[in-house]
Amino acid sequence: MFDLVLKGGTVVNTGSMGVADVAIAGGKIAALGQALRGREERDVSGKLVFPGGIETHCHIAQESATGAMTADDYRTGSISAAFGGNTTFVPFAAQHRGQAIPEVLETYDARAAPNAVIDYSYHLIVTDPTEAALSRDLPAAFARGITSFKVFLTYDKMIVSDQQFLDILVMARAHGGLTMVHAENNAMIAWMTRRLVERGYTAPRHHAASHPAAAEVEAVRRGIALASFVEAPLLFVHISTDAGARAIATARMAGHAILGETCPQYLFLTADDLNRPGAEGAKYICSPPLRDDATQTDLWRHLHAGTLELYSSDHAPYRFDAGGKLSAGPNPPFHRTANGMPGIELRLPLLFSEGVRTGRISLERFVALSAANAARIFGMADRKGAIAPGYDADIAVWDPEKRVTVTAAGLHDAMDYTPFEGRVLTGWPVTVINRGRVVVDDGALKGQPGDGVFVARNPFDARGFLPTRAAELSPERNFGAELL
Ligand code: URP
Ligand code: ZN
Ligand code: ZN
Repeated sequence: MFDLVLKGGTVVNTGSMGVADVAIAGGKIAALGQALRGREERDVSGKLVFPGGIETHCHIAQESATGAMTADDYRTGSISAAFGGNTTFVPFAAQHRGQAIPEVLETYDARAAPNAVIDYSYHLIVTDPTEAALSRDLPAAFARGITSFKVFLTYDKMIVSDQQFLDILVMARAHGGLTMVHAENNAMIAWMTRRLVERGYTAPRHHAASHPAAAEVEAVRRGIALASFVEAPLLFVHISTDAGARAIATARMAGHAILGETCPQYLFLTADDLNRPGAEGAKYICSPPLRDDATQTDLWRHLHAGTLELYSSDHAPYRFDAGGKLSAGPNPPFHRTANGMPGIELRLPLLFSEGVRTGRISLERFVALSAANAARIFGMADRKGAIAPGYDADIAVWDPEKRVTVTAAGLHDAMDYTPFEGRVLTGWPVTVINRGRVVVDDGALKGQPGDGVFVARNPFDARGFLPTRAAELSPERNFGAELL
């Protein structure tokens, strides 16, 4: 007799799909089969039974580059994630210059542990790679299971130099960490911004021109050059251009451990959204910026081809008020507007409705993009991202026919707007289960703040990539000099 049996749903994994009962015991998936019996049984026939979503790019209880605090904390952020079909999320723990990494982690532990309703981990944001951070604090964070971190090649308060980037890549490689990078050329952005602002072009719509596609492409190519020089894995987050994605595909074909992510905003919105009346366009300011219809088609192709293996929300929630988007006034110039938009709850419903239902992607790829790839890339694939015996009972039961008209009021984040207001989506998660606990059921929250636990993650799995270290770094080719 199991604790709970989900009966008769269509169970979907990345490599298989079929009608089966799913039995849960002790927070784990105990069996898949027919006619399984449990103390509690639920009929989920006609429903899809997916691994719980794993959201690996979101900004929660985090101070931004401009100093603004995100609207969502770990309670509202995790509740919103759960209502969107997620059972694990991995926000950022951000080091700002002058802060020591242990102090940063202590701060985020206090923010997360009492509040998260679903499982969580962090990626560190590293802005100050001091000797102590590189030799002691980051390796200690990896040992604790925080095996990924993000660096920025732009934003004056966050940017690392190429030399610092190399130091970080080498340290990560040595300890099994995965570096994530925000790739935009800072000088091109600053140059464009100065010219636009000097000429009075400060409305939200000019944000797109200030962050040209070429800035992303340059930084992606540079990141690939630096990472492959030292044979380090590198993940490009929020890719928004065809050329950036193609550079990633070419690097992977050459054997480098170069990975890419894109986000709903680049698939479902365009720069035209920045051109809404008054300050409305500020709601759509994010970096990299929204692009165009042709780029949307390109990014779908890259998702399908596997160039971009991750699909994440980049939920960066700043309310449309003086504490958020409008902190520089009711008509803020684009360069003084907090970057980012909300989307943690809609990430998966958008992908299902616009991806699966339209025939762009299969159900199996939906599982890959919603959970399995993130589990593999971020060191959780031994526990999460699949519905299989021994795995955590992290499950999202979806009604593939449920139609929802999106409104900000109908979402569960702490935001006062959604960029997707009024969209009609078909397919919605109706029951969400994290380690056997029902967190969301039929529109109601059942989980409690503090129920989520910290997920200690494994090192990045570099198997399958070719060793590609530059000849100049090889002692045999370098008169015995050990440089790494
Ligand atoms: O505009 C964005 N994406 N804001 C969040 C921070 C980041 O760079 O991901
Ligand atoms: Zn970024
Ligand atoms: Zn982000």
